[in-house]
Amino acid sequence: MLERVLSSRRAASVSDDGDESKTRKHISLGTRVTNYLIRTGHLWPCLLIGLVIVVVTSFVYHTRDVVCISASSSDHLSRLRFFAFDGLETDFGSLGVPWCRSKHGKTVEWTTKDLIKGLEEFVPIYETRPIKNNMYGMGFDHSFGLWFITQWLKPELMIESGAFKGHSTWVLRQAMPDTPIISLTPRHPEKYLKKGPAYVDGNCTYFAGKDFVDFGNVDWRKVMKKHGIKDLSQVLVFFDDHQNELKRLKQALKAGFRHLVFEDNYDTSTGDHYSFRQMCDQFYIRGGGHSCFKDSDEGRIRSRRKKFWEKAVDIEELCGPGEAWWGVRGQMRDDFNHSNKAISYAEHFKNSRFVESVLDVYWELPPVAGPSLTHQTRYDPARASSPIVEDGRYGLFRSLGLSRLEASVFNGYTQMVYLQVSQE
Ligand SMILES: C[S@@+](CC[C@H](N)C(=O)[O-])C[C@H]1O[C@@H](n2cnc3c(N)ncnc32)[C@H](O)[C@@H]1O
Ligand SMILES: *[C@@H]1O[C@H](CO)[C@@H](O)[C@H](O)[C@H]1NC(C)=O
Ligand SMILES: *[C@@H]1O[C@H](CO)[C@@H](O)[C@H](O)[C@H]1NC(C)=O
Repeated sequence: MLERVLSSRRAASVSDDGDESKTRKHISLGTRVTNYLIRTGHLWPCLLIGLVIVVVTSFVYHTRDVVCISASSSDHLSRLRFFAFDGLETDFGSLGVPWCRSKHGKTVEWTTKDLIKGLEEFVPIYETRPIKNNMYGMGFDHSFGLWFITQWLKPELMIESGAFKGHSTWVLRQAMPDTPIISLTPRHPEKYLKKGPAYVDGNCTYFAGKDFVDFGNVDWRKVMKKHGIKDLSQVLVFFDDHQNELKRLKQALKAGFRHLVFEDNYDTSTGDHYSFRQMCDQFYIRGGGHSCFKDSDEGRIRSRRKKFWEKAVDIEELCGPGEAWWGVRGQMRDDFNHSNKAISYAEHFKNSRFVESVLDVYWELPPVAGPSLTHQTRYDPARASSPIVEDGRYGLFRSLGLSRLEASVFNGYTQMVYLQVSQE
């Protein structure tokens, strides 16, 4: 177990939002200390002391694990105790975080520091949002993610598919005050204005109502020409339309778009459409590929975690007929679960290989803050990357203004993902 803890920590720090500078500093400090100890001949006594510390720590971990299992009540306190002691990281080995491999292992250029700076800027903006209660739409984490990615990339044109009342249109507008938007959504956001808050943008071309066209049926060459776009890598496309993401990826590639954001990147066996998270859940990825054996390590961890996190799934929910765990119990869902197609594992595997062959960058937005800070109770943090503001950093959480927000805005996190793609 210990080795698993250490190796998962290492993996976590390397993949930690691409903040390489931090990792490097860390390594060089360790190296320096080791070199010093070797030089002075103090290495062996130190290793011995280190070993004692490691053994004691692992004993404490184990003991606490037992305490946690026996605390079956799922009130907030026991949940807090659960992740403070049992730790997310101890479970990461088998219940880790799958991700999609990119062609050349490239990652995004922004770091955790940039994200924290972004949060500082975005919280006051978010507080002025016109749609305060955006149930069924985006919450805080994804609003921040979309805003951050957009203001970083500074596209010449923004396209969104799936606008609902227009909250995401508003977020795009906050990121780029003077950049045109194209919004594809069956029901025009102005329709919602009659009943309550909604956002209709002055510089947005709406393909909505009787003008609605599905993203896959738009003549993008014509539309780009009309908007004077010559370089398609200057366009950002945002999908929040609950369509099969493999289908959307193929359509986006065909049109030549390169920067894509998908709002709902559902985890395996959850959600109403096939997602990248699902596609890339494969045996060769840490935390990916599953066994349907209830008494396995994973089976036990899952049933335990399900008690604490509403959207966590146990083995029974994970697996469909014939031990099909991929997608949603072996199904490839599409269009808000209106369409449902069984796929074989071979097909599922083929899909992931296709995705990998066109991926330049895959970046999942981390949750903005740990569950002890946000009090979110829905998604299992063990299946998400390390939060931007980690548990225990209440000072930072408060100084960023995050403590002013209602807890419910943190409940909608579903691993929003930014993809940079190019042809095979
Ligand atoms: C979850 S809501 C979007 C939430 C929104 N982005 C926000 O900011 O909160 C999904 C939206 O997708 C729309 N939709 C359904 N089918 C669609 C399609 N084929 N293309 C684009 N949008 C679609 C729905 O009408 C709905 O408004
Ligand atoms: C649309 O954007 C242009 C700049 O690109 C700006 O001059 C104009 O005022 C904007 N119109 C509205 C209605 O916001
Ligand atoms: C999705 O569709 C399938 C079959 O069409 C159905 O059995 C299932 O209950 C649906 N799931 C949800 C969450 O609506």
